[in-house]
Amino acid sequence: MKVLIIGSGGREHALAWAIAKSPLLTKLYVAPGNPGTAKIAENIPLRALDIPEIVEFSLKNAIDLVVPGPEVPLVAGIADALNKAGIACFGPSAAAAQLEGSKIYMKEIADAAGIPTARWQKFSEAEAAHDYIDAIGAPIVIKANGLAAGKGVVVAITEDEAHDAVTAIMEEKIHGMAGASVIIEECLTGEEISLFAVCDGNNALFFGTAADHKRVGDGDTGPNTGGMGAIFNPPWATENVIRRGMDEIIKPALAEMAKRGQPFRGFLFAGLMVGQDGPKLIEFNVRFGDPECETVLPMLSSDLLSVLKEAVEGRLDKAKVKWKQGSAATVVMCAKGYPGAYATGSEIFGLDEVGELPGVTVFHAGTMAEQDAILANGGRVLAINAVGNDLREALSRVYAAVDQLDWDDGFCRRDIGRRALVS
Ligand code: AMP
Ligand code: GLY
Repeated sequence: MKVLIIGSGGREHALAWAIAKSPLLTKLYVAPGNPGTAKIAENIPLRALDIPEIVEFSLKNAIDLVVPGPEVPLVAGIADALNKAGIACFGPSAAAAQLEGSKIYMKEIADAAGIPTARWQKFSEAEAAHDYIDAIGAPIVIKANGLAAGKGVVVAITEDEAHDAVTAIMEEKIHGMAGASVIIEECLTGEEISLFAVCDGNNALFFGTAADHKRVGDGDTGPNTGGMGAIFNPPWATENVIRRGMDEIIKPALAEMAKRGQPFRGFLFAGLMVGQDGPKLIEFNVRFGDPECETVLPMLSSDLLSVLKEAVEGRLDKAKVKWKQGSAATVVMCAKGYPGAYATGSEIFGLDEVGELPGVTVFHAGTMAEQDAILANGGRVLAINAVGNDLREALSRVYAAVDQLDWDDGFCRRDIGRRALVS
């Protein structure tokens, strides 16, 4: 099969790394890719939103399957455009991608399907939102309705913070039109997990869990980021939680969407809060998580491409996947200053040696190549993964890799997985 992956981050490097191992693969392209994908695939200079050019490239090169990594091209209709041209795409239509693109749509699906989630109200007038906060009190959660690059959510501990969030999102429009309406919802408590399923429109295949670490600082302090590290199947993702997550959240959503004529095909990512009375849905994403993808795929022992092929052919009802024994952890190396302003262009030394360490895989995220040198070229620059016989070993391997890397302008969290070790 000829496969084209869309995107340029650590997630797309991990997808390429897993697909490159498939016996079904004859040629792998990544658009636009990064210096990591360049080593295992052919990078194509097209950006994720160059949809007509991607369709044209796929037709010309007889691509059998396109796998978009990020949500933005999915929400913009890349799957529809490819399917219309007769090209298979493992990703949802624009209509189904509203599950991530619109929080109101997500909540309507959840309510119609009886999925446990935080109680919520939608507002398109700031004044009504302020009145509601006065009536309900804090803690309370304010969310811009549209896509805001993961920055549209404020978990307000005080009423003042909640009012400030409404003012910033709805009146000052800090996220533009994504904040034209907001939802205000109950604050859930518990432990978070990211639960993944591969979906074919009707069937969902469990595809692992991970715990992300969203805050920039150790001990979950500082601003939110795209994700600073992750561990595979945290201890609070028990068998019971996974079963309930699939039966009470993923499968009912899939059935509801199929019923509405918007069947969901692709990676379905449920962000869950696991509290006293079981898992509740925080949000759906219509793609794999990043850095969760770099954590889950190294644990997969089945052939990823064959699973994706079965999904686009609508044959997941009979599919099974196998996982390796042990555990995995990923630490994201960032440029100093991230998630605020950061410098680019500093050289990273020792990548090849680090990649040779036992159990370690280095995924590139925001890097660029200059002759033989690899330079930092983004906020999240590398996602370093290690597998091990257990979480403790995976973590000690991944931090040995981090410590061996020679990059003065980088930093990472030093406490990835720590809470899982003590719980
Ligand atoms: P989202 O972009 O919806 O994933 O939200 C980002 C983060 O905000 C989540 O990962 C949670 O940590 C937190 N969050 C979102 N909604 C809630 C909620 N209803 N209760 C508590 N925390 C939440
Ligand atoms: N790591 C969280 C996300 O991909 O949204």
